[in-house]
Amino acid sequence: MGISAKETTGKDRLLRALQDVEGDIEWGVPLATMTSLQVGGPADVLVAPKDIANVARILLGARTQHVPVVVLGGTNVVVRDKGIRGIVIQLKHLTATRKDAAECLYAEAGVRMPVLMQYAVRHQLSGMEWAAGIPGTVGGGVAMNAGTRLGEMKDALQSVDFVNSRGRRMRIEASALTFSYRKTVLPKGIVVGAWFQLKAAAREQIEQVTKSYLQYRKESQPLTLPNAGSVFKNPTGQSAGKLVESLGLKGLRVGDAEISTKHANFIVNQGHATASDVLALIRKVRGLVAKKLGIHLELELKILGER
Ligand code: EPU
Repeated sequence: MGISAKETTGKDRLLRALQDVEGDIEWGVPLATMTSLQVGGPADVLVAPKDIANVARILLGARTQHVPVVVLGGTNVVVRDKGIRGIVIQLKHLTATRKDAAECLYAEAGVRMPVLMQYAVRHQLSGMEWAAGIPGTVGGGVAMNAGTRLGEMKDALQSVDFVNSRGRRMRIEASALTFSYRKTVLPKGIVVGAWFQLKAAAREQIEQVTKSYLQYRKESQPLTLPNAGSVFKNPTGQSAGKLVESLGLKGLRVGDAEISTKHANFIVNQGHATASDVLALIRKVRGLVAKKLGIHLELELKILGER
């Protein structure tokens, strides 16, 4: 099968956008293996920049060549079956952590939240306990103001290490940002790291909170099956899981996508689910909740990729 002129031009532009970039560059990579729900088609090109300077190069190159860029954390997301056009960035090499002041930690965006939490425990710093069991990365957590019922990102965030869409690196104070429930309003660009303002505390005290919290999550959430965390945001004063369960929808399936029998605000992949299965299941649940309860559920997870 021949390659169309459009495709050639597309690939040429991607190549030009990435010509000076150092890092891992892979073409046509299926993204299902990179998402916690294990669904999703290929990326035109998947790039894991070597360092922050190379994130800036990608953004500048993409802007010049007019190609779309998206960062894939992989945990709170559904990638459609046709995959993602343009450049998909994976920040797996941005894993540095350091103590910046007596009660301040810095972590690059690719650091996993459990790693950051352990790092805080080792330095006897309290303030990240709310994040126990959150599987995503620092960058994803900052970008969506991740949280649990114990707290949220904005409570600990001091400032954000950021590269804007022109490839300029800057430090943005948290006080200059607007946060709401699972949302951070940021300029166009990529979070490459964050500083956290924490408080000295006894190690045992921090561990006690995180352990009981992890236990709670283990008991109440289907953590042993592929999932993307909470599907819907909780409507004010209500619990999405409780609402979905009240309609008897636990166990509802489309293909291998299933409303978890353990927690109704989770969709699990029982084997070979596709993104279409997951999205059809979401539509079904949303439709039923709207029709029977008159409540519009908003998505917490993000949907990426070509329709
Ligand atoms: N509930 C039900 N049925 C269910 C699920 C929950 O009746 O199927 C009830 C629970 O018994 C509880 C209430 O609903 O009384 C709230 O449930 P839960 O404590 O599990 O918390 P949640 O509001 O569903 C939130 C976060 C989770 C976080 C947990 C624990 C949101 C949308 N989700 O869930 O975050 O782990 O609190 O702190 O705010 C995520 O964001 O991906 C995530 C997993």
